[in-house]
Amino acid sequence: DWTMGAYREEAIQRIRDQVGSGRVICALSGGVDSSVAAVLIHEAIGDQLTCVYVDHGLMRKGESEQVVGMFREHYNLPLIHADESDLFLGKLEGVSDPETKRKIIGGLFIEVFEKHAKEIGGADFLAQGTLYPDVIESVSFSGGPSVTIKSHHNVGGLPERMNMQLVEPLRELFKDEVRALGRELGLPDSFIGRHPFPGPGLAIRCPGEITREKLDILREADAVYIDQIRKHGLYDEIWQAFVAILPVRTVGVMGDGRTYDFACALRAVTSVDGMTADYYPFSHDFLGETATRIINEVPGINRVTYDITSKPPGTIEWE
Ligand code: XMP
Repeated sequence: DWTMGAYREEAIQRIRDQVGSGRVICALSGGVDSSVAAVLIHEAIGDQLTCVYVDHGLMRKGESEQVVGMFREHYNLPLIHADESDLFLGKLEGVSDPETKRKIIGGLFIEVFEKHAKEIGGADFLAQGTLYPDVIESVSFSGGPSVTIKSHHNVGGLPERMNMQLVEPLRELFKDEVRALGRELGLPDSFIGRHPFPGPGLAIRCPGEITREKLDILREADAVYIDQIRKHGLYDEIWQAFVAILPVRTVGVMGDGRTYDFACALRAVTSVDGMTADYYPFSHDFLGETATRIINEVPGINRVTYDITSKPPGTIEWE
């Protein structure tokens, strides 16, 4: 009978058979899929694997430290923390078109990853946390009429350019199975249950021009919002929740003074696979309390709105 423990052993054997004594490189994003893939491959081939965490300066509050810290402390796997935030934020300066943002980030990601791969002397294999739904989606959509809503950020295009074979140990699994495998491999529950986070990060939650000031405000507001959701025991009921900072300042009054600060939007949705989604029906009390906390605790924001758009017609992210 089938168990995750048995699957783990089989998967490890397959990785060893495929890789032999070759070198493998993996882009670690901190998401569940790439993390589980990295830990599994590390278990199979140890230090033949090197992971690169590309820090584009668009992560949430404390996130890079958490991700890198967890991998260094618990797994002792070879990990390069590539802090490229100046490069990414520099190239994004003055850019407000959503697709242009995505293309800049995707292109730089490949460039930076290649640079670090070269620095460690190259590799024979590229590891990816591709899941079964990713595999079928790309097959069933090929050939048919297609409309690109958003260019997704992933490491597609890298293997051809870098002349590497792919190692994709999660190709047969669905998301819930990847989570189960992650638990089997000892990844903490808090990590496995994390909401999805998009490759372009906070860039697509900051419509209009991205500035360091806006990113800092957004990080603080997002941290308060997620704290509220956790305190109310709602985190696991929600597929994804985040704050978007709006490209508009509004007038407010605080104490005996006038304020002129940014407005933000809270987003929270339920979903099964991210393809469709419903907005989460928070209580008015929760929303009111959260708005008060954000305005009191986050300098730079004086107005909070709740996004009640479902998908379709909206998308989950704002860009
Ligand atoms: P949308 O906004 O298209 O998002 O409704 C659906 C899901 O996909 C995530 N998302 C991304 N994930 N790279 C990713 O890895 C991306 O470029 C990207 N864009 C959106 C989004 O967070 C949601 O879970």
